Amino acid sequence: MTYKTLLVDIKDKIGKITLNRPEKRNAYSPQMADDFAQALDDLRYNDDVAVVVITGAGEAFCAGMDLKELFFGLKQNNPKEYDRISRVVTASRGRTLRYFPKPTIAMVNGFCFGGGFPLVECSDLAVAADEATFGLSEINFGMFPGGQVARSIANIMRPRDALLYSLTGRTFNGKEAADMGFVNFSVPRAKLEEVTMSLAREMTDKDPAALKATKDSYRFSLEQSWEASMSYTAAKEQEVFVAQNGGWLKNGVGDFVEGKYKPGLQSHTGVKK
Ligand code: COA
Repeated sequence: MTYKTLLVDIKDKIGKITLNRPEKRNAYSPQMADDFAQALDDLRYNDDVAVVVITGAGEAFCAGMDLKELFFGLKQNNPKEYDRISRVVTASRGRTLRYFPKPTIAMVNGFCFGGGFPLVECSDLAVAADEATFGLSEINFGMFPGGQVARSIANIMRPRDALLYSLTGRTFNGKEAADMGFVNFSVPRAKLEEVTMSLAREMTDKDPAALKATKDSYRFSLEQSWEASMSYTAAKEQEVFVAQNGGWLKNGVGDFVEGKYKPGLQSHTGVKK
């Protein structure tokens, strides 16, 4: 697996995608859009990967969409290719990442602007460096947070924060991002990798069908009526039951009934035997 604009490493069941244009602050270029879509597909079908972590090389997580290559270049000179790339971005980050069948964590190491926000929002979890700098800078160049960014900030930010930062272009740091719930928590940059990988490892030995159902039932319930959600999760329960050959009930619950472990305090590591 080699990509022009990404590094992908797999270790201990964690697939790490590193946006790798540090000299351009990992601006999301057309090539990166194609690479990212391909990397998500590769990790999706790789049985050695249970959890995916997304981060950036160097000082930036992602400085947003590539204003030079994408907007100044393609949008003006090659509208069809601009449209194709826009569709790839929407599909890969808005849909594929959001509904990815394995848990995903954004590890925000530095600058995160505009088009970098959906990478954070569409990941299930996010950990930031205290020192990271976030900003909805579009207003500073006479635009607004359009495309996926509008929906991303509506999904994940508190209304006052979304409007404050998008109307002023003010920046906020990793600690402030944690305080407002935009990321789960922040840690000093020197600890970011260690803490994020440890968080990822908390999920690598959980049952994959249960992890997928956890995500699906949360994400789709948000979009469903109460009745539809009840029906959907009942069907999901059967899906998990089939995927594990009844494992969660036979072993997960069964071993508790037999006094072998306490699921409130420990994780069963082999429900599907
Ligand atoms: N699109 C295209 N190129 C970008 C970019 C972006 N979003 N962000 C940074 N770059 C490029 C710069 O043009 C520069 O390229 P060059 O060396 O060929 O001139 C290189 O990355 C380094 O950027 P520089 O500004 O020198 O780094 P810095 O560390 O001083 O500042 C930022 C970093 C991110 C604060 C600054 O580059 C910036 O404001 N970028 C735009 C952020 C933005 O508005 N994003 C929203 C897009 S939706």
